Amino acid sequence: MKRIYVYRLFERFWHWTQALLIIFLGLTGFEIHSEIRFFGFENAVHYHNSAAIAFLVLIAFAIFWHFATGEWKQYVPTLENIREQAQYYALGIFKNEPHPTEKTALSKLNPLQRIVYAGLKVVVIPTMVTSGLLYMFFRYPQRYSVAQLNIKGLENIAVVHTVGAFALVAFLMAHLYLMTTGHTVTSNLKAMITGYEEVPEDRGEKTFTAAELVGAPGGELS
Ligand code: HEM
Repeated sequence: MKRIYVYRLFERFWHWTQALLIIFLGLTGFEIHSEIRFFGFENAVHYHNSAAIAFLVLIAFAIFWHFATGEWKQYVPTLENIREQAQYYALGIFKNEPHPTEKTALSKLNPLQRIVYAGLKVVVIPTMVTSGLLYMFFRYPQRYSVAQLNIKGLENIAVVHTVGAFALVAFLMAHLYLMTTGHTVTSNLKAMITGYEEVPEDRGEKTFTAAELVGAPGGELS
């Protein structure tokens, strides 16, 4: 086996901070939404609002990073190899067949991941942010009026925000399962912690060092 550098430092920081924030926003959010009790209702509201602000700051840095490094290109959906990838998850994985899409530093997502992650970035997260902010400012009209938006009631916003929260919970569950389906059960997890992934020695593509990757112009990323 040889080690290739796949996830850069900021990417790992962003991934784990985002994971913690989404889980925390989920816990506090569902406490606001239902009878579940973790922190107490009032605390949950305060914590949710604070974590949401932290999430917005993280998103701003992440957007900058994706465009500054060209990493956004990793998420452009493709149909290439998509059928093989779906067949692998449905059947091949249970027969120990090889992964149909090899992960490289310059193309680390398989076609299904590209579609799902692009959907998260372009649809689900922006929906949560928009509905969350509307919720936040609608809630306290005496402080920040959203009367101009002419939104009739809070209910539609709450429903959209809650549907998005369920979508994120579903994603998290699938993500945790798929995390264990790398070359070994823990190889994907280790890669997101250390940045390095172990791949078979006989793989043909160039191995990049951390320094080379940091210097890689965005245009070279496929
Ligand atoms: C920047 C992003 C976000 C903002 C600005 C935001 C803001 C808010 C606000 C203001 C509320 C209402 C709190 C209250 O009643 O005073 C709320 C509720 C809620 N949030 Fe978020 N939130 C965000 C992200 C998330 C995420 C990522 C999740 C789930 C993982 C989530 C799940 C929920 C849930 C389930 C509720 C309760 C909805 C209801 O039943 O009415 N939120 N959010």
